[in-house]
Amino acid sequence: MFVKIKGTGSCLPEKVLDNFEISQLVDTNDEWIQSRTGIKSRHIAREETAVSMAAKAAKRALEDAQVAAEEIDLLIVSSVSSEQLLPCTACSVQKEIGAVNAAAFDLNAACSGFIVAYQMAAGQIKAGLSKKALLIGVECLSNIVNWEDRGTCILFGDGAGAAVVSADEDGNIDGRGNIEIPSVLHSDGSRGEVLTCQNPTGKRADGSLKGYVAMDGREIYKFAARQVPVVVKEILEKAGKSVEEVDLFVLHQANARIVDAVARRLHIGIEKFPMNLQEYGNTSSASVPILLNELNRNGLLKKGQKLVLAGFGAGLSWGADILEWDIKG
Ligand code: COA
Repeated sequence: MFVKIKGTGSCLPEKVLDNFEISQLVDTNDEWIQSRTGIKSRHIAREETAVSMAAKAAKRALEDAQVAAEEIDLLIVSSVSSEQLLPCTACSVQKEIGAVNAAAFDLNAACSGFIVAYQMAAGQIKAGLSKKALLIGVECLSNIVNWEDRGTCILFGDGAGAAVVSADEDGNIDGRGNIEIPSVLHSDGSRGEVLTCQNPTGKRADGSLKGYVAMDGREIYKFAARQVPVVVKEILEKAGKSVEEVDLFVLHQANARIVDAVARRLHIGIEKFPMNLQEYGNTSSASVPILLNELNRNGLLKKGQKLVLAGFGAGLSWGADILEWDIKG
């Protein structure tokens, strides 16, 4: 537990699309969506872009951390749905916020993206290659959702979340000599076909590439309900902590039933599993930092609390991080 989150921020598009509005686009209804997913509404980008949302979330996180943009030496953006391939979204964010000293790059690990970014930053900091990193999860999933497919379009939303992370001020990894990287990541490409999206700019002579999210919902559900409790136990074992010692489990916000199933399998009360998917839907790699930011801004996190973050999704990919909250609540 040597990397500390120093500040958080988020940005959600102005337009809210509720279940009633979505039922005018596809054959569905509020009752079905809420009972199967817990989602009531989602925010959809109109004027906003991945870069503009990411930059706003980043500025808010820097302000919260009281860190100047110039101090950031590593800027990682996790996204699967940015409007641009080149330059990478992270470089455009760098330009927007003036993080002139940062090495900036994007990563794609779908809904596990923020968990992966945290591990990458932790590794760089531990290796002495970075001191202060800015991590952003941003999605404009409305760009790649098929608005005629009721099986998928009801689930997703747009938004960005960001966090500034650094080593302990005294440079001593965690004050207790713990130098383990507090993260567990897994991938299984052999099951990748259950959640796919072809590159919309890709070319095939037969025109068969369609840049839409396609998903086997049941398989994804089973995968998440089975693997997330396992990866949570793995990270706890690595950190030498018990499930009971964790104050909050900040899970990727895909579906309330998945969160419920994970809580049940870990035998932990659902009150330790905060959720905001009712309002935002599944924002993929942005969901964990958006939720963290809300908890932080609403004073629900106390210094010293142990948090487990977990993500899961396309790849398949899944993973968990453990951290000690360092900001005074
Ligand atoms: N509104 C109304 N009916 C719908 C619907 C919608 N939006 N979407 C599907 N249906 C229908 C199906 O056509 C099917 O009808 P049929 O029985 O007449 O064939 C019925 O509802 C059941 O469909 P099914 O896909 O089996 O439903 P489900 O209970 O598995 O719920 C999901 C579907 C997508 C909500 C659920 O599988 C899920 O949440 N999976 C995880 C998805 C996820 O989180 N993905 C991202 C991971 S990062």
